[in-house]
Amino acid sequence: MKILVVGSGGREHALAWKIAKSPLADRVLCAPGNAGTALVAENRAVAADDADGLSQLVKDEAIDLVVIGPEAPLVAGLADRLREQGVAVFGPGAPGAQLEGSKIFSKNLMRKHGVPTGSARWFDDVDEAREYLRDAASYPLVIKADGLAAGKGVVLPESFEDASAAVESMMVAAKFGDAGRRVLVEEFLRGRELSVLALTDGRTLVVLEPAQDFKRMRDGDQGPNTGGMGSFCPAPAATPEMMTSATREVLVRTVHAMAREGIEYRGCLYAGLMATRSGPKVIEFNCRFGDPETQAVLVRLQSDLVPYLHATAIGKLGDLDAPVWDPRPSVCVVIASAGYPESSARGESILGLEAAGEVPDTVVFHAATSRVGDRVLTAGGRVLGVTALGDDVEAARKRAYEAVAKIRFPGMQYRTDIAAALPPGASPFGAGGPAIVRKR
Ligand code: AMP
Ligand code: GLY
Repeated sequence: MKILVVGSGGREHALAWKIAKSPLADRVLCAPGNAGTALVAENRAVAADDADGLSQLVKDEAIDLVVIGPEAPLVAGLADRLREQGVAVFGPGAPGAQLEGSKIFSKNLMRKHGVPTGSARWFDDVDEAREYLRDAASYPLVIKADGLAAGKGVVLPESFEDASAAVESMMVAAKFGDAGRRVLVEEFLRGRELSVLALTDGRTLVVLEPAQDFKRMRDGDQGPNTGGMGSFCPAPAATPEMMTSATREVLVRTVHAMAREGIEYRGCLYAGLMATRSGPKVIEFNCRFGDPETQAVLVRLQSDLVPYLHATAIGKLGDLDAPVWDPRPSVCVVIASAGYPESSARGESILGLEAAGEVPDTVVFHAATSRVGDRVLTAGGRVLGVTALGDDVEAARKRAYEAVAKIRFPGMQYRTDIAAALPPGASPFGAGGPAIVRKR
């Protein structure tokens, strides 16, 4: 089989790395890829948002299966377009990708079909939004731009003044363009976050091992939100009870809901959950694999991934057995460039990649790198995802950080507390946000 992975991040390196191990993969291509994907696949200089270029590449190379990594091309309809030309595609079409592309669509779908989530109201008029925020019973609240905003469209205001400024910047100043013309105002949920990724062809679900992402930039969950500064798998909040509820009440209901709405969904359904005292509640859906969750999840997958991706794409997931997992936990530590997440330096030489890759049971996934001659350079915000397995979380963590310590480039930043044990006495339900709810 000839397989094309679309995208250039750490998630795509992890996908290409795992796909390349499959005896079913005769050739693996990546568009556009990075210096890491070039080690396991053939990179092609076609951007993930260049639908014409990708369509031509699929034809020229007689690709059998396309795996689309990032959300933007899915929301823009790349999967529909490629399916029309007869290739098997892993990733939902534009109607299914609305689950991530419109937070209002996804909230309405959850409400209609009884999927547990925080209560919310949406607005397309800034004065109405402000009036509602002025009368809101309690802060913090959550304000979300409806559309795609590269992970930056969520604010957690603690006062009416902050909330008002946030809706103003989204709805009037158009900080996120059209994505922020409509906003969702949501209840603030307390708990520990959990990312549950599942493969689905619209009928069958294969739930992958649950992971936890670390969204904040700095240690102790401080600093701005990022695309994710690390992950580990399995997630501590994923108790058997939590996973049973997440599967039955969130994943199965959502797959049924999509089918009942007449929407075909073939790809990864990513439920970003808050594990609350009363069970899981959906914070968001993504229509693709998570980044950096995928890195931590795939190093634990012992089964061949290709049959699952292909069966998802052609609607035959029900024919496969459940995948087999390495019982050992994994930890992924992201190394980012100077300035991330506000801006990001690029073009710095990265040293120590080989030495880091020699740490046992460790893979250095590239997230934003390019190769110039025999040097590997940084090429954006999140540069690497150093991912290790260990007999327990502490051992995996130690290995990941041992490998991180061998890597060097100017201005590199990383968190030192990925997958660290909670401080004594800390409640897992206290993590993840301000502790005080102010009544107004
Ligand atoms: P999202 O882009 O929807 O995943 O939101 C980004 C981050 O904001 C999440 O990972 C949470 O940490 C936080 N967040 C979003 N929605 C809520 C909510 N309703 N309650 C508490 N925190 C939230
Ligand atoms: N790690 C969060 C995401 O992939 O959206």
